[in-house]
Amino acid sequence: MINLFTLHPDFLPMLVIKNISDLKSLIRTQKEAGKTIGFVPTMGALHAGHLSLVEEAGRQTDFVVVSIFVNPTQFNDPSDLEKYPRTLEADAKLLEASPCQAIFAPDIATMYPKPDTRQFNFGELERVMEGRFRPGHFNGVAQVVSKLFDIVEPHKAFFGQKDFQQLVIVKAMVKQLTLPVEIIACPIIREESGLARSSRNERLTAEQRENAALIYKTLCEARNQVPGQSVKTIKNMVVETINANPFLETEYFEIVNDTDLTSVNDWDEPVNKVACVAVFCGEVRLIDNLVLAEKIN
Ligand code: PAF
Repeated sequence: MINLFTLHPDFLPMLVIKNISDLKSLIRTQKEAGKTIGFVPTMGALHAGHLSLVEEAGRQTDFVVVSIFVNPTQFNDPSDLEKYPRTLEADAKLLEASPCQAIFAPDIATMYPKPDTRQFNFGELERVMEGRFRPGHFNGVAQVVSKLFDIVEPHKAFFGQKDFQQLVIVKAMVKQLTLPVEIIACPIIREESGLARSSRNERLTAEQRENAALIYKTLCEARNQVPGQSVKTIKNMVVETINANPFLETEYFEIVNDTDLTSVNDWDEPVNKVACVAVFCGEVRLIDNLVLAEKIN
C-alpha cells in the first residue's frame, strides 16, 4: 500500500512516498500502463531552478517523480550538512502546481541501511574544480544517484547545468554502470540580476545578494572578450574583478573543455569552452558557469 500522508490539514495531498517498495510498485503500474518515467533528483529547498527541471520532465515524459533527500555522503563539511534547509512541506506545496506526480522522500536508514562503501573512479573529472575543494563529494553524489536510479528506474533523468561538473560525472557514471537512463541537461535559471538560482541564495543578506550578481556579470564580460584576449588575460580579469568586490572571494576559476574538464589554453582548441567559478560570498559558497565559446568544426 502507498504510504501517503497529508502534511497539513489544508494541504492538497501530494503523493509523498517514504519507502522503496511503495515507490517501485507505483512505478511498475505506470510502466505497465505504457507510461515513460521522468526523474528529478533533488535535496529539497526547491526553487525556480528545480521547477524548470520538473517542467522539462513533464514535457518529455508521462510520469514525473521528484526525490527529496539531503544526502549525507556528499557533504564533506558536517556544518554544511547540518545547515542544509529541510523544507519538505513547502517543497510538496510548490510541486502541486507542477507536473510532478510523486515525491520520493526517504529517510537516511531507507537509503543507507548499511554504509555505502562503494568507491567510484572518475579520474581527473573528480579531481578538478569542485573535486579539488570538496574531496569525496562526487563519490557521494554517485552513490546516491546510482541508488536512486536503481529504485526509480527512470527512462530520463533531468539535471541542471548549474552543477556542470556534477552533470559530467553523472553522465560518466551512467556510462560506467551501463544504466538504461538518458541524462537530460537543463539550462541554468537565473534571478533577474543574473545570479544563478540556488538554495544557498536564501542564506545571503540583501546586500550580499546584490553584490553576488557580479559573478554572472563578470562571466558575461569574459565571454565578450573571447577571442580577442588570451585565455590567461581573461582568467586574470575574472578573478581580479570578482575579488575587487569586498563581498566576494574567488575559490577557483577555470576555463575547461566541456567533456573531459581539462583546462583550455587556447581559443583555437576544437572543443566547447566553459568558464566555471566558485566564489565565497561571506560564508556562502556559490558556483556558476557559462559557455564562453562553442566548438568550431
Ligand atoms: O544536485 C543535487 O541537488 C544533488 O547533488 C543530487 C543530484 C540531488 C544528489 O544528491
